[in-house]
Amino acid sequence: MKVTVFGIGYVGLVQAAVLAEVGHDVLCIDVDEAKVENLKQGLIPIFEPGLTPLVMQNYEAGRLNFSTNAEEGVKHGVMQFIAVGTPPDEDGSADLKYVTAVARTIAQYMDEHKVVLDKSTVPVGTADKVRSVMQETLNARGVELTFDVVSNPEFLKEGAAVSDCMRPERIVVGTDNEDVVDLLRELYEPFNRNHDRMILMDIRSAELTKYAANCMLATKISFMNEISNLAERLGADVEKVRQGIGSDPRIGYHFIYPGCGYGGSCFPKDVQALIRTAESIGYNSRLLQAVEDVNDAQKMKLPAFIKRHFGEDLKGKTFALWGLAFKPNTDDMREASSRVLMETLWAAGATVQAFDPEAMDEAQRIYGHRSDLRLMGTKEAALQGCDGLVICTEWQSFRAPDFDLIKKSLKQPVIFDGRNLYDPERINKRGFTYYAIGRGESIKLAG
Ligand code: UDX
Repeated sequence: MKVTVFGIGYVGLVQAAVLAEVGHDVLCIDVDEAKVENLKQGLIPIFEPGLTPLVMQNYEAGRLNFSTNAEEGVKHGVMQFIAVGTPPDEDGSADLKYVTAVARTIAQYMDEHKVVLDKSTVPVGTADKVRSVMQETLNARGVELTFDVVSNPEFLKEGAAVSDCMRPERIVVGTDNEDVVDLLRELYEPFNRNHDRMILMDIRSAELTKYAANCMLATKISFMNEISNLAERLGADVEKVRQGIGSDPRIGYHFIYPGCGYGGSCFPKDVQALIRTAESIGYNSRLLQAVEDVNDAQKMKLPAFIKRHFGEDLKGKTFALWGLAFKPNTDDMREASSRVLMETLWAAGATVQAFDPEAMDEAQRIYGHRSDLRLMGTKEAALQGCDGLVICTEWQSFRAPDFDLIKKSLKQPVIFDGRNLYDPERINKRGFTYYAIGRGESIKLAG
């Protein structure tokens, strides 16, 4: 099937590559010429396991192509995916200018029936907007053509995007026209074998499903972070509590890991956007506001522990930081806890020596101008001469480090762990002071 994908971002590129892999003829359109040229040379703009070979193989096989020519894109596919960004407006609501621009472009150049699929995370009512923008454009052209607008949200996780897309847990399709369902079944047939993963619904429900999924997951995390704050004050170990509650299948073990706050391109933005959507219809979402407030406070916990240990003024102090990405297996630092941590430490006069297995270039791009940040080549090098070690991301390679070396390298054996990687008792025995989230030294201090 011929497919066009507008927007070669995370969602667009992964979806396009996966559709090409199963045999569809996919053309990706982006306004960024450099990005398109780079892709043709095999330079993939994001780090994502398995993505580079997938893109390269399918490009070489001629099933996946890249272009800046929007007209060519519209003419190519029966299926027209909109996968452009929806960045937050100043007030946190999703800005739809790129989505509506693509809708206008499709209507500008189409000369036969098209199925337009919203892949971007877009607020409820966006499909209606896309439809009216397209109809206006067609009216202005004075042509009578039919089209469908479908909500088909994406649920991929960074770091596991390719496998999430290859083996989706669900394919949510929101449509008001039964006739397009067959086409979508054909498009997704290779991903829908063994049991039917397609969940059909009306458009608005599909649009809300995406936000509800992300907000639910963010709520689980903030809930657990709230419990970790209680655990610290009550002298309990939140990791024990996590196991205790996770064993109930109604609660489950997923997404109840306390930590130094969630980040990334989705949770913070989507929670905010749903709060703004609620406001726009006169509903005050107290729960979602609390989810966001707890998360903001959680990002301040590691700096707060550091200041409790070393005092408010951190001039002359240097901290080793392990982990810059918002989570492992990505180089993405959007809304990462590490950024709040570094910015707070810098404001108090400290220097940071950081290492991340993938996000070094990204850190250089964002903070390369700062003299109070040293980007180090290895996790061991980052420790040299520092006053303490801070951990913001749970990379596998941080889980079993050489503790003797850490002790030798630091001026003081103190670890501030935002991801609860180590066992407090064992690490105390090795002679470390260990601050973690809802356990370790944090308990004694709070009590
Ligand atoms: C998320 C959703 O999982 C995905 O379905 C959606 O399509 C996009 O948003 P992503 O942002 O890639 O994906 O990352 P995810 O793995 O969900 O982690 C988000 C953040 O939550 C990370 O900062 C992570 O460290 C944090 N987190 C996750 C916790 O603090 N505790 C947990 O138990 C789980």
